[in-house]
Parts: sequence; C-alpha cells; structure tokens
Amino acid sequence: MNKNVIHQDYSITQQDRTARNQHQAKLLWFTGLSGSGKSTLANEVEKQLFAQGMQTYVLDGDNIRRGINTDLSFTPEDRKENLRRIAEASKLFIDAGVVTLAAFISPMREDREMIKQIVGEENFIEIYVDAKIEDCEHRDVKGLYQKARQGEIKNFTGISAPYEAPANPEIKVNTSNQTIEESLTIIINKVTQKLS
Ligand code: PPS
Repeated sequence: MNKNVIHQDYSITQQDRTARNQHQAKLLWFTGLSGSGKSTLANEVEKQLFAQGMQTYVLDGDNIRRGINTDLSFTPEDRKENLRRIAEASKLFIDAGVVTLAAFISPMREDREMIKQIVGEENFIEIYVDAKIEDCEHRDVKGLYQKARQGEIKNFTGISAPYEAPANPEIKVNTSNQTIEESLTIIINKVTQKLS
C-alpha cells in the first residue's frame, strides 16, 4: 500500500446507518460446491430479510466473474484474488449498512480466513452449504460437471481442484438430505438473531 495514501473518515458512520436501518449489517458468506444450492439459498434468504424491511444485497460468483472479476481464472491464485476483491467490496457494503449475502465456492480455508480478516470477525457469518458431490454432479444445473469430466474445464472444484470444508461454520445446512425450505428455516432463524 502506498504510504502517501491516507485513510479518510466519513461524516456519516456505520453506526448512524445501523441506527436508522434498525438492523446490523453483516456478511453472510455461503460456501460450498458448485450446484450445492448456495445461490438459491442466498436469494431465498435475501427475499425474507428484504420482506422484513432490511437493506440487503446479493453478490454471486457467476455475476461477479462476468463483471469486476472478468480478468480472473480458476487457478488458486486467481481464486484468492477473486475472493479478496469480493471481501473488499463486501466491506464497503457493510459500511453502507447493507446485509450482504455472498455466494462463492471459496474452496480454501485460508482464503475464507482472509475474507474474515478483511471484513472483521464480528461481521462475518460463515454458512456452509454442504451437499454430496454425487448429488451436485447429478443436478449439474449448468452442465459444468459433465464438461469437467470430459476435461473441457480445468481446475473444476470437487473434480480436479480441492474443496476444503469449513471446520467450524457458524451455520451448516445439507441440501443432500434437507429440502431448500428446511435449510432456509435453519439459516433464517440463526441469522435473524444476529442482525437484530
Ligand atoms: S471461487 O472458487 O470462489 O473463486 O469460485 P466462484 O467465484 O464462486 O465461481 C464459481 C462459479 O464459476 C463457474 N465455474 C467454475 N466453478 C468451479 N471451478 C471451475 N473451474 C469453474 N469454471 C466455471 C460455476 O458456474 C460456479 O458457480 P456455482 O454457482 O458455484 O455453480
């Protein structure tokens, strides 16, 4: 970082925004394999929080990679940079008073730890969307597993690249043996307490 770049304080603080919004702003971080249900759950959780009158926004892997992170691939280094930028963007959203729901594979523990450090431990809620890889592959919503098996996609998480499950997530759901509604209820119950 350039030592001539100096932090500026703003007149309106996060506390001012929280007081007006009447809820906390935190980062709900959904991690899991492709096809595990991260995006579906993040969107459903957002719908419920939004309906309760909260300020919310979803950041999603596919969309971010088609926009600000269009220059990044799926090598370990690029995934880290992808997640670092998303964490910095999330930090701005939190500062703006917004409950931010982020759905990214984020396969490496050390990268998720980096995200937590960037946004602050107190603002980070890790939600592990567990699912058997066979189920994700069977769902193959985007046809990517088939391409990965045929060798058309390199570094595909779960097939030719690793996924390190969270050791101690704050919330864990399992879409192999729960319905989306059941997973949603678990998440909403835990998250609502933390945002009040
Ligand atoms: S990461 O690991 O957190 O940087 O990945 P993320 O930004 O969440 O992007 C995941 C989406 O990109 C598509 N895709 C791949 N995923 C995994 N591995 C490889 N090689 C790959 N290539 C493309 C895929 O649609 C992922 O979306 P989801 O929603 O997880 O299925």
